[in-house]
Amino acid sequence: MAKRTIVEVNLLVNGEPKSWKVAPGEVLRDVLRREGYYSVKYGCEIGECGACTVLLDGKAVHSCQVLAVQAEGHSVTTLEGLSTRFELHPLQEAFVEEGAVQCGYCTPGMVLSAKSLLDENPNPTDDEIKDALSSVLCRCTGYVKQEKAVKRVIEERKGE
Ligand code: FES
Ligand code: FES
Repeated sequence: MAKRTIVEVNLLVNGEPKSWKVAPGEVLRDVLRREGYYSVKYGCEIGECGACTVLLDGKAVHSCQVLAVQAEGHSVTTLEGLSTRFELHPLQEAFVEEGAVQCGYCTPGMVLSAKSLLDENPNPTDDEIKDALSSVLCRCTGYVKQEKAVKRVIEERKGE
């Protein structure tokens, strides 16, 4: 009988060091969900829908397209890492305020993609916002409300 190879991957998830046993071919999304990060969603499996978006060293990636072993030594942020039990991230608040959430399936990916954009560029153009959000498919709301939510955060930060 063929022996199943298992490897260890060491990474930071939402700032906490983790050491997980994974199969060499397992994708990061599946391992994160197995470990309880349920904001990382199943979707298309082929890198198109963005439901599985996480931040890898601060950049939005589709975690179904990243092998878990490729995260060795890197930092992963999921939506769980953005808020505390009592306090939402400003982007999450803005999404709620602007009605940019319906079923919520795409929302973690949308929020993380927006965070990645604003961390790199605090004052993006409309096209840059659209481009960042377009990496995640929303079947419910369209994109107008999400764009408004991102702009709301930009304006709030300018006023701080
Ligand atoms: S499940 Fe990863 S992009 Fe669709
Ligand atoms: S809110 Fe339902 S898919 Fe976007």
